[in-house]
Amino acid sequence: QGTVLRDETSQSWDVFGYEEAQFVLKNHAHFSSQRTVDGQNVLGNYAPSILNLDPPRHTQLRRLINLAFTPKAIASFQPRIETITHNLLDAMKQETQGKSTEVDLVAALAYPLPVIVIAEMLGVPPEDRDKFKRWSDLLVEGPSDLRPETIMDLMTRRAAGRKELDEYFRNIVQLHRGKDDGTLISALISAQIENESLSLEELLSFCVLLLAAGNETTTNLIVNAWRCLLEHPEAFAMLRENPGLIDGVIEETLRYYSPVQATSRIVTEDIEVGGQKFSKGDRAVVWLGAANRDSRIFENPDTFIPTRSPNHHMAFGHGIHFCLGAPLAKLEAKIAILAMLSQIDEVSAVPTDLTPIISGFVYGVKSFPIQ
Ligand code: HEM
Repeated sequence: QGTVLRDETSQSWDVFGYEEAQFVLKNHAHFSSQRTVDGQNVLGNYAPSILNLDPPRHTQLRRLINLAFTPKAIASFQPRIETITHNLLDAMKQETQGKSTEVDLVAALAYPLPVIVIAEMLGVPPEDRDKFKRWSDLLVEGPSDLRPETIMDLMTRRAAGRKELDEYFRNIVQLHRGKDDGTLISALISAQIENESLSLEELLSFCVLLLAAGNETTTNLIVNAWRCLLEHPEAFAMLRENPGLIDGVIEETLRYYSPVQATSRIVTEDIEVGGQKFSKGDRAVVWLGAANRDSRIFENPDTFIPTRSPNHHMAFGHGIHFCLGAPLAKLEAKIAILAMLSQIDEVSAVPTDLTPIISGFVYGVKSFPIQ
């Protein structure tokens, strides 16, 4: 009842129920990810990234990318992620030493960690981190209000940013071409299946997607996890007692405060979902955050239970577009939370004046003061 509703304002369908959401996401023949018009991206004429492609091209590209983005490659990065985390926490400590000032968890750790990690994995120099921040912010920033001039301004800035980013990655690809230097970019350049490799345009689109899809989402996972722990001191105490519970804490954060709340598809043929008739061309918005609180699947869905088992949340999507970066995001969040736990002795209160990020699909806060 009420798990699929028509939204007349945006002329689309909202899919809230867990099973209905899974039905849409796994049925890629009826629900297309090709959300662009005539192959044109809203930012200009760029090669679509795998996120916006359907089979058979999606299958081919994902197989190629999988050659470079392997669980082994990600796991081998663990020591670096630990070092980067500890360096950031040390810098944070130095900043506050002897002062009773607050620090912002977002600015000090949760934002820089995934940016540095992805920059290093790709093989871009650390001194370009600030540029990355600006580009990555622009790619996911929502308009501050819905006036046409505000939206136009954002689109113009975003298109300019995308152009710069493209130029930037063109140089990086140039630098790594023909070198087997252990970077993700060189592995992507040389990935080959049946004599086919990624074109330069596809490579650039993938690099941009990594920045857009991987950074802010992971930042929000880290902050949302810390927020869950502060809001549930009993979970905080349990984790301190038994750090092995960290996997459960991260999984439950993904379900309870899902960093990506929604994704969408375009209906390719008339079809019924949850008793509603969708027509060809309709947009279906799949609310992952709502599906993750469906009481038909999760007992006490509004309660944070880090020991919940099983916990088949849909925070990383479902089906052929299941998040490629899920193991990396979870690894970074685990390392960050455990490192904070080892350095922060007392549970502090949850800050009261948290400001949400303005976005239709990202769930997180702009800053999170900690003592
Ligand atoms: C796809 C969520 C982190 C790379 C997705 C999708 C979701 C998602 C929901 C599927 C979208 C759809 O079906 O339309 C998240 C969350 C993250 C996270 C919640 C962090 C907590 C990352 C990271 C990376 C990454 C760290 C890479 C560095 C991707 C890519 C896809 C994707 C490449 C497209 C896969 C495809 O289309 O086949 N992510 N993501 N994500 N994600 Fe993530």
